[in-house]
Amino acid sequence: MTRHAIKPRKVAFDWSRTKPQWIANEPFVSHLTNSTHILLPIAEAWFCQVFKEALPHVTDDGLRDEVIAFMRQEAIHGGAHKPLIEHFLSHGMDIRDGVAKTQRLIDFLFGDPARIFGLLPARGKRLARWWLGTRVGVIAAGEHFTCILGRFILENREIDALDHDAVMMDLLRWHGAEEVEHRAVALELYQHLTGAPLTNRLLVMGFVVPLLTWYWIESTRYLMAQDPDLAEKPGFFAEWRKAAGRNLIPSARTLLGGSWRFLRPGYNPANEADTAIALDYLAASPAVR
Ligand SMILES: [Fe+2]
Ligand SMILES: [Fe+2]
Repeated sequence: MTRHAIKPRKVAFDWSRTKPQWIANEPFVSHLTNSTHILLPIAEAWFCQVFKEALPHVTDDGLRDEVIAFMRQEAIHGGAHKPLIEHFLSHGMDIRDGVAKTQRLIDFLFGDPARIFGLLPARGKRLARWWLGTRVGVIAAGEHFTCILGRFILENREIDALDHDAVMMDLLRWHGAEEVEHRAVALELYQHLTGAPLTNRLLVMGFVVPLLTWYWIESTRYLMAQDPDLAEKPGFFAEWRKAAGRNLIPSARTLLGGSWRFLRPGYNPANEADTAIALDYLAASPAVR
């Protein structure tokens, strides 16, 4: 892949006319995508924290520049989703408890046990380094999926055909486009720090797939339960199948099939999406302009 200078972009969104059900008559798809407003500000802040810790171990100047640009983009992404928590509250939808629970989950799973490792002289340093590389691997696996989702939303035309909120669509597409743009960085850092051996890639993917699946189901159900404008709460799996059949969301096959590619020896994020499509969108995005 030819190196492309990753560019953090400032954005502005006007949420004043956006409703939590941002696609008319599609509460399930609206809330499935709304789960990103809970998870991403927390997860992306954690990405930045881990990458900051990894930065002193990077010996390649080009990669260091990419890692810094990646961190700037992710910080802006999280900051762009966050105001929707308060905005939804103004629509009678309180999801602050879900945000607090998600923060506790991330802290519990990925908090820095370097202090514990530090207490074990001799082995402590090696364990701390392994834990750093493995967390970078978890991020690389997560970024594989944000690239798949970014590509999906950029190329999707079925949601365009529905009555939807253009500002929310712009948020998802701007974010998705930058995920496509920086899709190789986490894997390159993972390879640089650890060589990304298959055993470790299996470990991180084997952890990320069930975690993300469970989280997506739970958070979508939670959002639907908190929505005062939704009298009947639809069942997750039946709605997923129906919406995926109409290409409003990616199918389980697209997502699970994607996880196998990450494990293949010749896996290359360059083949996962087209940077030119992402840059075209970013040049036209109302939030960026
Ligand atoms: Fe992001
Ligand atoms: Fe990302």
